[in-house]
Amino acid sequence: MTILIVGLGFVGLTTALGFADKGFQVFGYDSNRTHSDKIHSGEVPFVEPGLPEALGRNLGANFKVVENMDEFTAKADIVFLCVGTPCDESGRADLNDLKSGIDSIADKVNAEGLLVIKSTVPPGTTQKEIIPYVRTHGLKASVAVNPEFLREGWCWSDFTKPDRIVCGIDEGRVIARTLLSELYAPFDAPMHFVTPNTAEFIKYLSNSLLANLISFSNEMAGIAVAAGDVSLGEAFKILHEDNRLSGAGINSYIYPGCGYGGYCLPKDTTALIQSAKSNGFEANILQEVVTLNESMPRLTAEKIIRKTKDKTDKIGILGLSFKPNSDDVRYSPAAKIIEQLLVFGYQNIYVYDPVANDKFKEYYKFPLHYCPTKEDVCSICSVVALVTIWREFKGINKIYPHIVWEDCRYFL
Ligand SMILES: NC(=O)c1ccc[n+]([C@@H]2O[C@H](COP(=O)([O-])OP(=O)(O)OC[C@H]3O[C@@H](n4cnc5c(N)ncnc54)[C@H](O)[C@@H]3O)[C@@H](O)[C@H]2O)c1
Repeated sequence: MTILIVGLGFVGLTTALGFADKGFQVFGYDSNRTHSDKIHSGEVPFVEPGLPEALGRNLGANFKVVENMDEFTAKADIVFLCVGTPCDESGRADLNDLKSGIDSIADKVNAEGLLVIKSTVPPGTTQKEIIPYVRTHGLKASVAVNPEFLREGWCWSDFTKPDRIVCGIDEGRVIARTLLSELYAPFDAPMHFVTPNTAEFIKYLSNSLLANLISFSNEMAGIAVAAGDVSLGEAFKILHEDNRLSGAGINSYIYPGCGYGGYCLPKDTTALIQSAKSNGFEANILQEVVTLNESMPRLTAEKIIRKTKDKTDKIGILGLSFKPNSDDVRYSPAAKIIEQLLVFGYQNIYVYDPVANDKFKEYYKFPLHYCPTKEDVCSICSVVALVTIWREFKGINKIYPHIVWEDCRYFL
């Protein structure tokens, strides 16, 4: 079986190496040449535990990088589309990368083969938009939906030890079922074959629930702060001891903080609201989840500011990536908080992240002081905010008791 993966980001590179590790012949293509050149030379372009080793094992053997689609002269049996699906200006899922991915592989798929949408798209998208688009290219291959549930920071373990595999296929598409069953046979997880709309919906069901839990926790934190004298971290940790929650692995989402960020939850909640609206349904709860989340950076910046004497104070920010174990800074809460501080006129901001300093600097172009260590931040600043819960920050407030701390994650 020849597998072609289009888009070698967090999802695509993990998928490619995951299948290569199981012995399949995998080719990977990414239209960003700098990114694909790095992979081609054996470097994973982002921080993700387990991927460098998997790339080392498979590059040049089971996994090959295609630098230009013209050089891929074979016909793939399965093509996975793993490109980004950001929100457009109206909040809808933007399908342009998916469509250009389809353009590039139009003559590269076996007629008896399968095109798999792994990118996250709202319910109904594959049936209503992708399949008609694929057919205009004369592509005869079957089309399936196979949403991905991995978490950044845990991509490799989540992909190689999935808790469920969801495949959306049209009834009667024997080829899709056969090929996907063969491909996922080495993975020890329940496989569910559902309709394409159901598969797409399951992904949003999952991400919307997680976003709900985070905004619910932040709303409860607001209620507690208004009431006064509530030990919030303690309250949530005691909640987690409830037998219905303990050990469920979901407690990191049932915890207050400074709002959800990252590449998925913000865009997926917004896209689902827009998709529901275009189908005539108002997703009111989800809209409130988003509204509350969007207010969190300003509320957090105000909390930090209340701890300063004036705008000349030196403020420290510990953590820039949207979560620990990752250098992904897209939609990072730290960026939104810093943006607010700058808007409020605070110019002396000193930041540090164990892995994301360079990416943050390149991505946001904020006028910040980037510090090589957390100790530099703590020796310079009078007020320091803990924004990302990297392990190495645990208890740092005890080492620097003279600093006024704002523990945005109730973590210290
Ligand atoms: N990141 C996650 O944690 C995660 C988890 C589950 C699902 N998803 C979904 O998976 C999809 C991909 O997410 P990601 O985080 O891997 O994105 P990403 O931005 O890390 O990677 C996407 C890659 O696709 C490439 N690309 C764009 N258009 C292309 C084209 N026409 N041809 C070839 N390559 C192209 C980009 O250069 C980029 O490297 C999204 O729909 C996302 O919502 C992401």
